[in-house]
Amino acid sequence: MLSKKAMCKSHGQDSCYFLGWQEYEKNPYDEGQNPSGIIQMGLAENQLSFDLLESWITRSHNKTGFKKRGGSIFRELALFQDYHGLPAFKKGLVDYMSEVRQNKVKFDPNKLVLTAGATSANEILMFCLAEPGEAFLIPTPYYPGFDRDLKWRTGVEIVPIHCSSQNHFRITISALEEAYEHAQKLQLKVKGLLFTNPSNPLGTTMKLEELNQIINFALDKNIHIVSDEIYSGTVFDSSRFISIMEALNKRDLQNSDISTQIHIVSSLSKDLGLPGFRIGLIYSNNETLIAAATKMSSFGLVSSQSQYLLSKILADKKFTTMYIKENQLRLKNRQKLLVSWLLEIGMKCLRSNAGLFCWIDMRHLLTSNTFEAETELWKRILYESGLNVSPGSSFHCTEPGWFRICFANMTKETLHLSIRRIKALVDSLECTLLQNYQQQHKVKSLEKNNLFCEHIRLPSLDSERDH
Ligand SMILES: Cc1ncc(COP(=O)(O)O)c(C=O)c1O
Repeated sequence: MLSKKAMCKSHGQDSCYFLGWQEYEKNPYDEGQNPSGIIQMGLAENQLSFDLLESWITRSHNKTGFKKRGGSIFRELALFQDYHGLPAFKKGLVDYMSEVRQNKVKFDPNKLVLTAGATSANEILMFCLAEPGEAFLIPTPYYPGFDRDLKWRTGVEIVPIHCSSQNHFRITISALEEAYEHAQKLQLKVKGLLFTNPSNPLGTTMKLEELNQIINFALDKNIHIVSDEIYSGTVFDSSRFISIMEALNKRDLQNSDISTQIHIVSSLSKDLGLPGFRIGLIYSNNETLIAAATKMSSFGLVSSQSQYLLSKILADKKFTTMYIKENQLRLKNRQKLLVSWLLEIGMKCLRSNAGLFCWIDMRHLLTSNTFEAETELWKRILYESGLNVSPGSSFHCTEPGWFRICFANMTKETLHLSIRRIKALVDSLECTLLQNYQQQHKVKSLEKNNLFCEHIRLPSLDSERDH
């Protein structure tokens, strides 16, 4: 017999988000070995700039060879176990964080806690900020992993802030107030608000007015703010990324009480594309929180080898500057390419300027405006088209028919194949929807017939604008 915690379902492992991954694992696409396998479009991983890191490693073996002043530092690293982290690494990290934020904010290494990825950072913050049964408000749609990371072991509750496609899923004051009132009706004490900026799954950044609105809300309710900025280095277009710390500084609130209630989570999993290294962090102006979180980080430390290697990479400012710029350009080109291919097959997505994914509107392909119909469509995309995309319901989206597809974890050729597979399914779905319509309305032929079933030109690799 296992404990209740081990058996409880609040980690969300049975969501379509994770089920899709399991199906992918059983039958993964491989161009040579398994060309009809499932293509993984549900993984927000950045492989577009991996070559830049690889070539840094190749040309810098003198820096990464565990040598110090001619001797070996193997012993030093193998024995190192201080949970405060390697000072050189923490310095490199805060400088990198500032650079990604265009040096509009400076970060202090003493206010940083190293964690095993953002997963661990988010959970530690929940342990530090809330009791079991207390609540955090989170705008929808949100990252499916939050059910596991924030709720599962901590017993903290999530109360959704419902955002709507009508205003491009932006957070409004009324949505904030409604969520707060809803929590009160459920007799849950609200301890804070957590949001992801840039958003996963929307791929959008928050405007300064929105951040100010959130700060005002937190001031009014006297609650904490957690800003998950894990995608900060992926902002590739239009308005630049504004961190919650920058918004705070702009209002000269950096020395006020509210500044001790604002915390950042980040990691090197997305913009540097290193999820396997498990390097995450909490940044906060709250000394007591930093002390508690540092103690808790013992359960998920970053290995000293990883810290050592990354301290060398991040100390190379010429490299980080080049990497940040080039990575953003590659993401921009890839996103534009995907959007143009989707448009060619008649599909639209939310306008985005960041992230490793697009938030696609497939509402017109649902047989009814329900989540059952969304799951039905998701299954067809997964099993008939062989694409693991993630349905909106797994992100707690309140409107059926939205899907997240990732574009940075595959080659251009695989992405193109995915689009061809989607197109084939869309064609057959639209014809079925039309036939059903004709039967229901006893119409023999419809002009629309041509519109739906006409041969839409297949997007070609020639129209690429990728790197
Ligand atoms: C918003 C958000 N937070 C946290 C995580 C977890 O990241 P990590 O791999 O650093 O634990 C993810 C991963 O996809 C994410 O999208």
